[in-house]
This record gives sequence, C-alpha cells and structure tokens, in this order.
Amino acid sequence: MAKLRFGIIGAGGIARSHANALRQLSDVAELVAAADVIPAAAESFQQRFGVEALGGEDAISRLLARRDIDAVTLATPSGLHSEQAVQALDAGKHCLSEKPIAITLEQADAMIAAQRRTGKALGCVFQARYEPASVIVKRAVSEGRMGRIVHANAYLKWYRAQEYYDAGGWRGTWRMDGGGALMNQSVHKVDLVQYLAGPVATVKGYAGTLAHRIETEDAAVAAVRFQNGALGTIEGMTNALPNAYTRVEVYGTEGSATIVNERLATYYTRSEAPPAKEGEKPLTDLTPEVLARFEAEHPGWRTGHVAVLADFIQSVREGRDAPVSAIEARKAVEIILAVYRSSREGIEVRLSQ
Ligand SMILES: NC(=O)c1ccc[n+]([C@@H]2O[C@H](COP(=O)([O-])OP(=O)(O)OC[C@H]3O[C@@H](n4cnc5c(N)ncnc54)[C@H](O)[C@@H]3O)[C@@H](O)[C@H]2O)c1
Repeated sequence: MAKLRFGIIGAGGIARSHANALRQLSDVAELVAAADVIPAAAESFQQRFGVEALGGEDAISRLLARRDIDAVTLATPSGLHSEQAVQALDAGKHCLSEKPIAITLEQADAMIAAQRRTGKALGCVFQARYEPASVIVKRAVSEGRMGRIVHANAYLKWYRAQEYYDAGGWRGTWRMDGGGALMNQSVHKVDLVQYLAGPVATVKGYAGTLAHRIETEDAAVAAVRFQNGALGTIEGMTNALPNAYTRVEVYGTEGSATIVNERLATYYTRSEAPPAKEGEKPLTDLTPEVLARFEAEHPGWRTGHVAVLADFIQSVREGRDAPVSAIEARKAVEIILAVYRSSREGIEVRLSQ
C-alpha cells in the first residue's frame, strides 16, 4: 500500500517529535514538507531534518494546496488547532492535532463538524494512552477485573520556570494556550483518568496563579464525580520543584492500579491474585507479573509519538475513526473548562459528556 504522505504545520519544539516519529515509520509514512509562519523556524527545521520547510504568513495555505500531501499534523500553539484543522480538512487532508485538540468547546465542535463534512480523519495526540501501564489498566477495567470503579485521581506536579512561559510568547495566555497547568500540561492526565474511569458528571474546583507571571493558572485542584458514581480528584501545577511527578490512580471494588510517571507502580485485582494460603497475607502486588506478561505478549511495543502516528496511519488505511477521535479528545477539554468555570463562579459544574 502507498505510504501516507505527511506535512507538519508548525516547526517548533514538538514538531521534532513528529518528524522523528515519521522517520521511524518510513515503511508506511513519508514526511514531505513542514510549514511555519516564522521563516527562521522553517529554515532550521529544514536543516535539521533535510525536508522542505515553507516559511511565512502564507506557508500553511501553500502546504495545504499541495497534492503530494495526504495528511498533516498540527504542532502549533493550541489556540490555532481548530482553525488550522478545519482549513486542512477542507483542503482534503487527514489531520492529527497536538493536544489539547482545541481550547474551547466551540472550537472543538467546529473541528468535529468539518471532520463529518469532509469524511477525512481527525485525531488528537494523547501518547500517554499507549504506555504499557495505561494499556494494562484500561484492559483490566474494560474486562471487569477492577470491578466497579469507585475512586480515580489524576495528579501532575511539574515545574516550569518563568522563562518557559516567557520564551514561547503564547504559553500561559488565554488566547493561545487556553489555560495553564491544566490545559497545557495536565490535559494528558485528565484524558487518561476519564479514559480509565469513565465520563465525568460534575466538577468543583479552584484554580490560581501562585508563582508565575502569567494570565492563566499555574495550579488547580478539583473534586470530580464520575457518571458511574465514582469520586475523584484532579490536581495540576507547574510550581512543583524540582518537577516532582505525575500520578493516575484507579480504585475499583475488585482491584486498583496506580501509574506514576507513566509507569505501573501498583496493580492488584482479586481475580488475578494467586489464592492465599492459610496464614499468608491475601493481598499481593501483582505489578511485576502483569508487566512481565505484557512484555512477553507485546514484543516491540511502541510508545510516544511513534505509537500515536502508527495507530493514526493504520486507522486511515483501514478507513476507521482515528484512535483518539476529536469527540474523545474534547472530553478532557470540557472537564478542564469546567474546573475553570467552577473556580471563577464558585459553583458545581455539570458536564454534558
Ligand atoms: N504531546 C505532547 O506531549 C506535547 C508536548 C509539547 C507540546 N505539545 C503541544 O504542541 C503544540 C506546540 O507546542 P510547542 O511546544 O511545539 O510550541 P513551540 O512554540 O515550540 O512551536 C510552535 C510553532 O508554531 C509556529 N506557529 C505559530 N503560529 C503559526 C501559524 N499561524 N502557522 C504556522 N506555524 C505557526 C511557531 O512559529 C512555532 O515554531 C501545543 O499545542 C502544545 O500543547 C504537545
């Protein structure tokens, strides 16, 4: 089958991960060109990767007009994803957007409408879903081995220096980042916790800007009630020296799991535990066993942007929905916007998911 020919829109930091991933997938994909509004960014990308890179205000239109490109990835500031995705889909390209898919629900809905109108693929990069830990826990939940989920938590305790916000120009702004510690950094964990524990029903939260000179929040906490009745918390911050950790936890009536820094830290289900002998502690952490089993059953398992792009390409070839569709990616955005609204208005916010 012919390779899927890609263009990358935005040639900054994360675009490098896109280019490196496409290189690793050269049996099924080809990176044809990149485009960046800043000519110097395009030039430096071209030098680094040896592919054509278009620069300037009209670079995207020129890239989208090309017939030798079937699909684009969006590696631009988050506030631009929606208009660029709509533009790309209308130009007949499949589109894989960086996270968050958009920074408002109206923007996300415009993307979903364009996807339906054009019939092209539209997906979002949530690479944490491809970590073995996430796959193991998702499977255990889906197959009922965790029982009924009763608690689920997502924590991201990272550190970002003031220079990080100052350098990009768009980071920490409402217009282009759409938020701070939650919308930019924690969105991966918010997505993961709702992917594992199910849709969120209501949110009560606080957000604040405590240690940076930025418009958006650098810390937020929220209490969450899931549709299935489970209770949980979300905490995200970029004030945690020296970049402490991330943690996603799921507790069910038949087991529990915690994922720390993307790795499985604890895992237990009653049905998988060996029967306890008399006098022995009945509860055994099964983490080493389930990890070893996963590795044995999935040799060469891929993670990160390579896994995301490989799966996206495969879905386009098979004509099925993108693995993380826009509708799916919109859920984390809705949860985060609910935390902001709850904090601003001092109310509990009910979600429509
Ligand atoms: N998946 C992940 O783990 C991950 C990690 C980092 C960033 N991201 C996401 O990737 C996106 C980009 O982040 P980044 O850190 O690479 O930012 P960046 O600032 O390093 O790069 C963005 C690039 O987009 C270019 N750009 C701006 N406006 C443009 C326009 N109208 N047309 C074309 N190019 C334009 C800029 O010149 C810059 O080169 C954000 O949405 C961010 O949330 C995802």
